[in-house]
Amino acid sequence: MSPALTAISNTGTAPLRFPHRNLLGIEGLSADEITFLLDLADSYVQQNREADKKSTILRGRTIINLFFENSTRTRTSFELAGKRLGGDVINMSVSTSSIKKGETLIDTAMTLNAMHPDVLVVRHPDSGAVALLSQKVNCAVINGGDGSHEHPTQALLDALTIRRRRGKLQGLLVAICGDILHSRVARSNIQLLQIMGARVRLIAPATLLPAAAERLGAEVFLDMRKGLKDCDIVMMLRLQTERMQGSFVPSIREYFHFFGLDYDKLSAAKPDALIMHPGPMNRGVEIDSEVADDIDRSVIREQVEMGVAVRMAVLDALTRDPAQRNAPHGK
Ligand code: NCD
Repeated sequence: MSPALTAISNTGTAPLRFPHRNLLGIEGLSADEITFLLDLADSYVQQNREADKKSTILRGRTIINLFFENSTRTRTSFELAGKRLGGDVINMSVSTSSIKKGETLIDTAMTLNAMHPDVLVVRHPDSGAVALLSQKVNCAVINGGDGSHEHPTQALLDALTIRRRRGKLQGLLVAICGDILHSRVARSNIQLLQIMGARVRLIAPATLLPAAAERLGAEVFLDMRKGLKDCDIVMMLRLQTERMQGSFVPSIREYFHFFGLDYDKLSAAKPDALIMHPGPMNRGVEIDSEVADDIDRSVIREQVEMGVAVRMAVLDALTRDPAQRNAPHGK
């Protein structure tokens, strides 16, 4: 283990600057706490690039991935994160569970709780379901995405990607574009970026903006070129058709024409603006394939790499000794 890791591991003496039992959202976190998680994640990026990627911080701990909704990146990266820290990881997806037999969310949580897990990572299609579940169990709960509400580890990995590329978050101009209405990624990012001193713009057709978009503290644009002007970061979002009832865009062709990221629209942003997307991408719908694969501008694959490191940091922080967790903030 690197010296940096030893100094902050749960066997060390450094007091924890993350005094929370769960990670349910970005809401309620301070800039200091976010910085703590990002710094910790930074040290794990290095560990993940070594030939031997394993440490023992989570030895003896059990992590259950409880996914009521499909996932590739989030579930795999939590699994890798838990295993690289030496923990035991179990994956439970809805199709194999008793949910199909009529067991409720809470019954499932209580059943799993009786098996003494240390961490539950939960993804659920309903906003608020993960917070509700966290009240019924004794272990730490991490929100892996609840409906269109929050997806805190995605916002943290996005922030880590940006911070490593730009050296800071403060003062950057970040455009979040596309299906903001249905996006938990957007909600968590809007909060995190503003807490960290970045400026946020939301760019979408009126039908894909939340009713009180202005109240989120961001500037709102209905025109891509105007919204992208001078931006440092362009974050694209997937059209979340599974959360749509009825039609929100006239046609995919028209949507791409007005809101799909291509080189023409991108030229309004800063010449070195970074392109991001949480995945899965719909090529030719919200983003042009060439732009998505542009090795000079797109950091989409880096986001995936940062996802493992961020999830290791969150698992580490939430499984530390409670005495350390209550240590004075900022020490
Ligand atoms: C996002 C999600 O599930 O909210 N994906 C992810 O976690 N990588 C975004 C999306 O599904 O579009």
